[in-house]
Amino acid sequence: MAKDRSGSVRPFLAWTARMWSAVALTMLVGGCVLLQSRSGSSSSARTPKDAVVRQERAECGRLTEKEVKKRDYLPPCPATPPGLHGKLKVREDVSLEEAVQDLADGVGVGGSWAPPDCVPRWSIAIIVPFRDRQPQVGPFLYHMHNFLQRQQLNYSIYIVEQEGTELFNRARLLNVGYLEALREGPFDCYAFHDIDMLPEDDRHLYHCSEQPRHLAVAASNHNYKSSHSLVYNKYFGGACLMTQDHLARVNGWSNIYWGWGGEDDDMWRRLSFEDLPVWRFPANIARYRTIKHGPQVVNNKRYQTLKRNTGRYPNDGLSTIKYIVKSVVRHPLYTHIAADIGTPLPPS
Ligand code: BGC
Repeated sequence: MAKDRSGSVRPFLAWTARMWSAVALTMLVGGCVLLQSRSGSSSSARTPKDAVVRQERAECGRLTEKEVKKRDYLPPCPATPPGLHGKLKVREDVSLEEAVQDLADGVGVGGSWAPPDCVPRWSIAIIVPFRDRQPQVGPFLYHMHNFLQRQQLNYSIYIVEQEGTELFNRARLLNVGYLEALREGPFDCYAFHDIDMLPEDDRHLYHCSEQPRHLAVAASNHNYKSSHSLVYNKYFGGACLMTQDHLARVNGWSNIYWGWGGEDDDMWRRLSFEDLPVWRFPANIARYRTIKHGPQVVNNKRYQTLKRNTGRYPNDGLSTIKYIVKSVVRHPLYTHIAADIGTPLPPS
């Protein structure tokens, strides 16, 4: 369902103002690189001095307040972005250096961008859970910046890395990324996006609506069979879009899935408990190339854990996650958040 037009522009302007204050704070503390250690979602805001903020912003390639103000006079971006290509060539061989060289000029430090000549209809935070996938960073950033810019979105890319050697917990990283992005937003829309999923058609528009949206409908790792058939109709993995309202209703993602699998099925359950039906673009457009990677440790207990989710989600999710942000580094094409997300409970 389409969102009200003005409704999508106003939040952007409000967001822009909030974004700059958040950026200002960040810059004040540590220039373009902020190393910090904080717990959960608490914040300790300090009011920065305007002059310092302006200077820091200029150093980091951000817009000045005057430039931001100028945007108030721009027309809204057209409902259908004019520069879409349709089917895309996906390159898996781009190094991070090449991506930076090609794209960094137009992108704000930390991986934020907004179209220069119109007011975007949507702001979106792209949240990417991460560990041990360095070779995929270049292809992902190269592809996604080009893709999102052609859609004239106002976006920021956050790569959230799990510290330590514990089993991977994708859902906890998604909760952390969401809470940290929210502090810099809010955004109209949050994409939870695996780093190995590259959309193959830019008509696959990344904006939210009243229903949560599953993005990765037909992916090369499933032989492009649509989620409706081969995978299973309740498939919610790979990449999806949700609003702040959706996330508040389901209390974000479950924190208890360690190892590969199950957390996306759990989210599907939460959405059904909340009567939030998921929608998808058609499989010929919602196509993804999956970058190959090594094996992952599968969570063999995931279906048992899933069965226990008969409505426990108010006590497991955003309201209960405990984590420590170890560092936030604003790279030219993305913000890197390293987090200690804890360990699984010992078996009882
Ligand atoms: C897992 C999901 C995964 C799906 C498709 C299921 O068995 O629990 O997490 O997305 O398979 O690969």
